[in-house]
Amino acid sequence: MRLALIAALVAAPTLAFAADPIKDTVEARQGFYKLLGANMGVFAGMAKGQMDYDAAKAQSAADNIMLLTKYDIAPLYMPGTSSADYDGARAQPNIWEDMAGVQAKGAAFVEAATAMQAAAGQGKEAMLGALGPLGGTCKACHKEYRAK
Ligand code: HEC
Repeated sequence: MRLALIAALVAAPTLAFAADPIKDTVEARQGFYKLLGANMGVFAGMAKGQMDYDAAKAQSAADNIMLLTKYDIAPLYMPGTSSADYDGARAQPNIWEDMAGVQAKGAAFVEAATAMQAAAGQGKEAMLGALGPLGGTCKACHKEYRAK
């Protein structure tokens, strides 16, 4: 009995991790985009005047976004994780049929994120100047490849 309990405790985290690779992958992918969204939220908050422009905070958000562009998200686009396959996923099936198109949207995003990294800490006007183009690259990909 005691042994069985210990075995269950040892096994539980492993099982929780591997129980549903499709669900885990979709959630990890959405978590990645949530992080992007949270950092964009810093710029948006400053743009709307909900918080004062702060060069260090803006720079940190831009650096975080740049870091995320280095993350290899390809494994999180595992087959079987589209919006047609999994309830709750919003990655449209056309992604898997048009990887070149997705990569082009991704490259435009990286370019705009690079510009934001150079601008974010250089004053509110500079940050705002980079925000529109950066936000545009998020929207361009969502319009084409994300379910409503
Ligand atoms: C190359 C395409 C692409 C780019 C660029 C992109 N996204 Fe997305 N985003 C997606 C896809 C696809 C999903 C849907 C993922 C899913 O639900 O399976 C998504 C989902 C999201 C979500 C919802 C996450 C959740 O809670 O489920 C947020 C927030 C988001 N993106 C923010 C952003 C922001 C902010 C940017 C730009 C800084 C951005 N995205 C750039 C493709 C992209």
